[in-house]
Amino acid sequence: MAFYKRSHAGYRRLLPLFLVIFSVALVLMLLIRKWSISDFSYIAVEEESYSFVSSSMETDNRILLNFGDFKPKLPQMNDFAISLDRRNFLPPRNIDLFPNLAENHIKIVLYVHNRPQYLQVVLKSLANVKGIGETMLIVSHDGYFNEMDSIVQAVRFCQVKQIFSPYSPHLYSDSFPGVSKGDCQHKDDPSKKNCSGDADQYGNHRSPRIVSLKHHWWWMMNTVWDGLPETRLHSGHILFIEEDHFIYPNAYRNIQLLVKLKPEKCPDCFAVNLAPSDVKSKGEGWESLIAEKMGNIGYTFNRTVWRKIHAKAREFCWFDDYNWDITMWSTVYPSFGTPVYTLRGPRASAVHFGKCGLHQGQDKISACIDNGEAKFELENVDKVPNINIDWPVYVFKNQEGYRAGFKGWGGWGDHRDQELCLSFAYMYHSSDALPNGRDASKHS
Ligand SMILES: *[C@@H]1O[C@H](CO)[C@@H](O)[C@H](O)[C@H]1NC(C)=O
Ligand SMILES: *[C@@H]1O[C@H](CO)[C@@H](O)[C@H](O)[C@H]1NC(C)=O
Repeated sequence: MAFYKRSHAGYRRLLPLFLVIFSVALVLMLLIRKWSISDFSYIAVEEESYSFVSSSMETDNRILLNFGDFKPKLPQMNDFAISLDRRNFLPPRNIDLFPNLAENHIKIVLYVHNRPQYLQVVLKSLANVKGIGETMLIVSHDGYFNEMDSIVQAVRFCQVKQIFSPYSPHLYSDSFPGVSKGDCQHKDDPSKKNCSGDADQYGNHRSPRIVSLKHHWWWMMNTVWDGLPETRLHSGHILFIEEDHFIYPNAYRNIQLLVKLKPEKCPDCFAVNLAPSDVKSKGEGWESLIAEKMGNIGYTFNRTVWRKIHAKAREFCWFDDYNWDITMWSTVYPSFGTPVYTLRGPRASAVHFGKCGLHQGQDKISACIDNGEAKFELENVDKVPNINIDWPVYVFKNQEGYRAGFKGWGGWGDHRDQELCLSFAYMYHSSDALPNGRDASKHS
């Protein structure tokens, strides 16, 4: 080092100055190290220390990702996808009717594909939800369908924002993420048929229609938490529902109560849910709150939990199952190291529905629709908040269902799907993966 070569006298004279510079540098280095490790980086983060979103993250949501030497790469958008992507940045509708969102509101994300009759039912149910006007509804579309679009445009009961995944396989007719020329299909053998693609663990090649669900869910999660201006700084909870869920009038007030009670009643709970994890159940009707495994109807969590999920992007994207929920139960939640409980009331505030008459036998449905009309009884107790803050919590331990060790149902074996999925995790954190159709054009 340079100063060893200085004369003895010069060194003595400069010593205090060196000490000051050295300590300032040390403090700075420690600060920078602390920031980068605890807030912006997954590299050395322990699960336990991953608890709070610091205020520095609220202003800069970017995260340094390190999933090995993976290089994110998004497909070139076609013109239609670019036009949809532009719509994602339009302001919400109905701001004239609902100029202000309530403090501590819980945003609602509804993800849909193409079942207009179902969408009508879920929106009609949402229109009757008490408190809905205090919050914003975000409808996330997988693909573009005229009727779905116009149904949402007619909503007047709260602020509404529509988003469209510009990488939905439904938008690409002759290139990935759709089917490209030369792709293997079904159980094709690439060595015989000279086609491309990797089969899943059961020997089946990718089907864009099937992979689109998991892609959409993951794109939506990343976009809502880390991309959209309306939500990327949202510090509270977000409620997620699907196009085949009927939402009870008490759902919003109940979920607000549950969110408030969670830290005290169930500190180990990651989320709160509108309905039991057993989709056939309408609840036990006990005078008690319930903690159980995370369900897929009306799950609601905050950014801390999202960061934990996002940090497991590789597990999510490499697991050979085309179902996002089974992927979460089999790989992501088990990787947290502690049971992932959710808190809910003893009566469902939402149900999964399907077409009447279709699901006899292995009936998985507790409500159905016929000609666009919901056919099931709503009792008076389901119209008002029905959670008592003094109730104890009953914990369901060791429930049946998917868990670590399950190998997956397949459908997700193609490396292109795995890489697109992991690229979504980078989308809002890396300039290598800008979701604007401008990059990644080099190959086409
Ligand atoms: C296999 O397909 C590629 C690209 O479609 C083509 O260039 C190549 O000649 C084909 N090989 C055989 C043996 O048919
Ligand atoms: C978010 O929820 C988790 C799990 O319930 C909790 O531990 C954490 O403190 C919450 N974070 C914030 C910022 O409220």
